[in-house]
Amino acid sequence: MQIIRSIAELRAWRKTAGRVAFVPTMGNLHEGHLALVAAARQHAEQVVVSIFVNRLQFGQGEDFDAYPRTFEADGDKLRAAGVAVLFFPDERELYPRIKQDFNVEPPHIQNELCGAFRPGHFRGVATVVAKLFNIVQPDVACFGKKDFQQLHVIRAMVDDLNMPIEIVPVDTGRADDGLALSSRNGYLSSDERAEAPRLYRQLSAIRAALQAGDSNYAALEKAACDELNGHGWRVDYVEIRQADTLEIAHVGEARLVVLAAARLGRTRLIDNIEVAR
Ligand code: PAJ
Repeated sequence: MQIIRSIAELRAWRKTAGRVAFVPTMGNLHEGHLALVAAARQHAEQVVVSIFVNRLQFGQGEDFDAYPRTFEADGDKLRAAGVAVLFFPDERELYPRIKQDFNVEPPHIQNELCGAFRPGHFRGVATVVAKLFNIVQPDVACFGKKDFQQLHVIRAMVDDLNMPIEIVPVDTGRADDGLALSSRNGYLSSDERAEAPRLYRQLSAIRAALQAGDSNYAALEKAACDELNGHGWRVDYVEIRQADTLEIAHVGEARLVVLAAARLGRTRLIDNIEVAR
C-alpha cells in the first residue's frame, strides 16, 4: 500500500492506474469503514481510501479538535484489507488558501434533519467530497448508509453536477447489540455505551409498527422521542421520511426511512433504518 500525501503525487499515480474505487473517510477506522473497502474491492481492481478530518464540515463548538486521529492503526487495517493507496493530505494540501472560497451548495435538504442542527455541515461535506473526487477521479465511490442523509446529498450532487462516478451504498455495520459502529462511540462512558443501543431499538420498534400497518407517523416519532428523552437522551429528531427523496412521508408511502439523531452525554449519535412494506 502506498501512502500518498500530495495531490500531485496522487494525480501521477492515477494516470497509471486502471479502474479505481474510492472510499473517503475521516479515519479512526472500524468494521463499518472496512465493509466499504470490501465493497470497493468488488467494484474495481484498485482501491483508494482517503483519511482527512475535514474542518469545513464541523461547526463551532463541535468535536473537530477532539476527533480521534489514529493514523498508524488505520494504516495497518487498510494494508491488511488490500488497499492500493492511502491518500492522507494535510489541511494545507487540501485548503492551501485556508478558506475555501468556492463551495458546493446542496439544496434545501441541507437545512433539514441533521442539517437543522449542524448548519453548514452538508455544504462542508459536499465541498470536500467534490474536491476529493476531482483529485482521485474514481470510477466508483462507496458511502455508508449509516450517514443516510450524507449518502443522499452525495448522490444528488453527482447527478446534478454530472460527475461520472457510480455511488455504491453500503449497509450499516453494527455491534452485536445493534449499535451502529461509529468513530464517535469511543466518546461514550461504559454506562452510556450500555444505554446507546436504545436508539436502534426505538428505530426497530417504529419499523415494526409501520410494517404492522400503523400510519400515525407523528405519534410514532413522538413515542420514540419520549422514550429516549426519558432515559437521559436529548433527542435532536426522530423522523419518518421517504427513503428515495428524503422528503416528508405521506401515508401509504412504500419505501420509508426512519432517521434519528440524539445526544447521550457529550456524544451525538445518529442512526436510521429503512422500511419496505
Ligand atoms: P466518516 O465518518 O469517517 O465515514 C466514512 C464513510 O464510512 C462514510 O461513507 C460513512 O457513511 C461510512 N460509515 C461510517 N460508519 C459506518 C457504519 N457503521 N456502517 C457503514 N458505513 C459506515 O462520513 C465521513 O467520514 C465524512 O463526512 C466524509 C464523507 C469522509 C467527508 O469528509
